[in-house]
Order: sequence, then structure tokens, then C-alpha cells
Amino acid sequence: MGPASERWRRDLESWAIPEDILATAPESPWHFPVELFVSRAEGSTTVRPTFSNQAALVALPEGGTVLDVGCGGGGASMPLAARAGRLIGVDSSPDMLSAFREQARQRRAEVDTVLGRWPDAAAKAPAVDVAVCHHVFYNAPDLAQFAVALTEPARRRVVAELTAEHPQTRLNPLWLRFHGVTRPTRPTAMDAVAVLREAGLDVKWQQWNEPRPGGFRDGANLVAWVRRSLCLPPERDAEVTEALQDQLVERDGLFGFADRPVVTVWWDPPTS
Ligand SMILES: C[S@@+](CC[C@H](N)C(=O)[O-])C[C@H]1O[C@@H](n2cnc3c(N)ncnc32)[C@H](O)[C@@H]1O
Repeated sequence: MGPASERWRRDLESWAIPEDILATAPESPWHFPVELFVSRAEGSTTVRPTFSNQAALVALPEGGTVLDVGCGGGGASMPLAARAGRLIGVDSSPDMLSAFREQARQRRAEVDTVLGRWPDAAAKAPAVDVAVCHHVFYNAPDLAQFAVALTEPARRRVVAELTAEHPQTRLNPLWLRFHGVTRPTRPTAMDAVAVLREAGLDVKWQQWNEPRPGGFRDGANLVAWVRRSLCLPPERDAEVTEALQDQLVERDGLFGFADRPVVTVWWDPPTS
């Protein structure tokens, strides 16, 4: 493992929740809410294609195939459905995969799903034209291995998207307020770029800040998600709501966080 990869792994480890706090958590703090990622997928085709969508579309032939790794409800690949011949979603959550199939069905797209963790699930992924992977890199301790495995099935391009800063950083003030704990700030998207370059991938990147669709229909569900992430019990919801006041926005009837910078990273597999 090179120095950038090693640093990435160490920085991700530094996000571990202190044992004494984790021991008091009434529910798992690591849950991805299906509702949120379904709404991201639903909204993804109601706005104009984002920078990440365009980076994928220019490499995707009419009727081509798309692999969406850590697909959730399909926020990364549904905007490609009108051009793609087939979408293949990979996720470690069966509930996310059923949501992904439903989103594809609503768009009359052919769909396959693979249940499993990337890169272990890579052996079950078919060769495709374009691979997309949005908002999963911060879940990959061995990012170089994860990204090289994305490159192998992709004939034309890999497009990844991630927040410029670790997604949990916006809860850092709440960790200080509720637990007196100072949370980390690294790694960042630029650290990811360094890892990918160290792995020999010829990556390009672009930071942007367009509004991203999606959120919770009921603001209470958003508060409950944050409260679980903070390892707090439901009785603390009112305090969490108060602490979040400046960060929450309502958009198109959905409750979410204010937009923040994201980074698109893309690379084309070498032609041999
Ligand atoms: C933050 S959500 C992003 C969903 C979707 N890509 C989007 O942008 O809306 C992360 C998703 O990746 C999945 N996931 C996280 N780590 C994974 C891994 N190593 N392999 C497969 N799926 C993973 C989670 O179950 C979840 O559905």
C-alpha cells in the first residue's frame, strides 16, 4: 500500500465511534435510509443532467450497459437509463437493490442486480461500457483496490462522485455539543484523487455545487437518522432538531441538508 492509500485507510479509521459512546447506542449509527436514496433516484431524472451524469453520458453509446456500484435507489444511473440498454446495480443491501429494480422498472429499463460488497462482488459483475459509483468511496478503506476493481469491467469510462469533505463532517458540531468529542475532518475528495493516482489511474476531477435532489418526506425521519448517527435515544429528538436548525432545508416538499460541494472523478481504462 502506497503512502496516499495508507493515509486514506488511517484517516477513515479515525472516524470510528469511541467505544464508550457506541456501547450506549440504542440503534445502529451506520444505517443508510432507503427512503433517502430512493428519493435521490426519483429526483435525479427531474433535474437537468449533473456534471457527473454528463461525464458518464458522453462515454455511453446508445443501448450501452451501465454498472452502478453502491447503487442505492439508482441516483447515479437512473439519469443514464434513457440511453442505456441495461443497468446493473451492485449493493450490499437487499432493500436498496429492490428499490433500484423498481426505479429501473418505472423507466422501462432492463435491469440486473448483484448483492454483495464491492470489491468482493466484482467477480459477479459483467463487462459494461460505463461504471458509475456515487457516494461510496468514503466507505472503502482500501480505495485503490476498490477503484481498480471498478476499472476492470468498464470498457469506456468510470465516473465516481463524492462530497468534497467526508459526509459526516457536517455532524461534527453536534458530536462536540452532545458528546464533547472532536471528530476528524480527513480524508477529503482530494485525498481520494491522490490514492487513485498513486494506483496508476489517469484521473480527472471537477468540483461543483449544483443542488442535488432528494430528501425525507417527513422532517422527523431526517432528525431520527441524525439522532441514530449520534448514538442518541429517541428522547433526544427535540434537542437534535434544535441543534440542526441552521443546516436543514425544505425543497420540493422534501427535508434535507443544505447543498455542499461535490467532486466528480473520472477516468478511462487504458486501451490495450
Ligand atoms: C450513500 S449511499 C449512495 C447511493 C447512491 N449511489 C446515490 O448516490 O444515491 C451508499 C450506498 O452504497 C452501499 N454500499 C456501501 N458500501 C458498499 C460496498 N463496499 N459495496 C457495495 N455497496 C456498498 C450502501 O448500501 C448504500 O446503498
